[in-house]
Amino acid sequence: MDRIRIVGGQRLNGTIPISGAKNAALPLMIASLLTRETLTLNNVPRVADVNLLSRILGNHGVDVTIAGKKSGQRTSDGQTFRLTATEIVDTTAPYEMVARMRASFWVLAPLVARCGRAKVSLPGGCAIGTRPVDLHLTTLEALGAEIELEGGYVIAKAPRGLTGNRVELSKVSVGATHNALMAAVLARGETLIENAAREPEVVDLGNCLIRMGARIEGLGTPTLWIQGRETLHSAEHTVLPDRIETGTYAMAAAMTGGDVMLDGARANLLQEALQILRSSGIEVEERPTGIRVARNGRGLQPVTVETRPFPGFPTDLQAQLIALMCMASGTSTVRETIFENRFMHVQELARLGARIELKGDTALVTGVSGLRGAQVMATDLRASVSLIIAGLAAQGETVIGRVYHLDRGFERIEDKLRQCGAHIERLTS
Ligand code: UD1
Repeated sequence: MDRIRIVGGQRLNGTIPISGAKNAALPLMIASLLTRETLTLNNVPRVADVNLLSRILGNHGVDVTIAGKKSGQRTSDGQTFRLTATEIVDTTAPYEMVARMRASFWVLAPLVARCGRAKVSLPGGCAIGTRPVDLHLTTLEALGAEIELEGGYVIAKAPRGLTGNRVELSKVSVGATHNALMAAVLARGETLIENAAREPEVVDLGNCLIRMGARIEGLGTPTLWIQGRETLHSAEHTVLPDRIETGTYAMAAAMTGGDVMLDGARANLLQEALQILRSSGIEVEERPTGIRVARNGRGLQPVTVETRPFPGFPTDLQAQLIALMCMASGTSTVRETIFENRFMHVQELARLGARIELKGDTALVTGVSGLRGAQVMATDLRASVSLIIAGLAAQGETVIGRVYHLDRGFERIEDKLRQCGAHIERLTS
């Protein structure tokens, strides 16, 4: 199993290209199930979750091709995927696949919407709380599907197709909003989704569906209106930049006291997080081509933060912020309101010398004068990257195990950090 070795204490200086957002690429790829025609996606990141989803979609009959490199293209440029689901050959998503990646559960809605039936295993994914799927199921029921749970599978049937309806989500859920959108675009009549997620990745999916011929209004607001269509058609869409990767490298630069240009990053995708970094004393400059982040020698002030649905502070940056606040002069308060049990990084950070006290859903992080390298273990995708950025600032050697978590969502992380002066390498075994 691969590990990552870091010798910390180097400032990060240079340019980091920001990849396409994994969390947008996944639902966009799944949207290819909604049409017989080809969906072309540009700027798809090279991450393990994308490869796994390609295989899952292949089982359903989607022909996935990756376009060759064009002349002048850099390694940092994303890939172009062409996905064609002329015929759906299998409407079952087996346990072995879905258990490895929670987002693959989202094939449920497009399969039911297009084929009138689907059998999808209940999901696995990152071990960050119970993560139920009740909202996905009630949404499909509201649109006329009959749902049964049998042997760990969801069996959904709508032999006469789905019918538009008013759906109120009792909790803001990114995945349930993706699912509701993908069901509603092929349902008969109008659908109103209330309390929809406003995350940029939902807007990106909605914009792609519009390019495929869907009628959707209200993207980026809590109320979405959809007029269903009988069929959708081919389209080309470019995946938006990854706001979580952006925030992660911004914190890595701040953590090491460096100066980094995040090329291709879009500030409007993470204003709340950037504001918190500014309030902590970090220089954040929005430029036409990206975001520059610097902390040249200045100290870090502690912060008080709660994770919230967009436009609030993202839960996917909570672990990284806790790592950063280990270097602040004082005690920060970080409350996790989206997922229970999302503090697995805390005990690993403690191995590097962090002082963090957990009180229910809140972490009290007291800054220390310096972290020291140690052996640590990645526990989930975002937790593992918090250990990387802590390791970059720690004195001495840090070795991170179980880095397959990291490979699920971060493209070429060692290369990107090494190019900015980090001493980081992958130990393959
Ligand atoms: C997505 C992201 C994940 C991010 C999360 C919140 C992807 C691939 N993953 O996950 O990185 O951390 O959004 O921004 O895009 N919930 C229910 N019932 C449901 C569905 C969700 O109670 O049927 C709850 C969850 O347990 C959680 C909250 O709603 O407490 C938000 O979860 P949700 O937005 O659905 O997360 P995901 O879409 O799985």
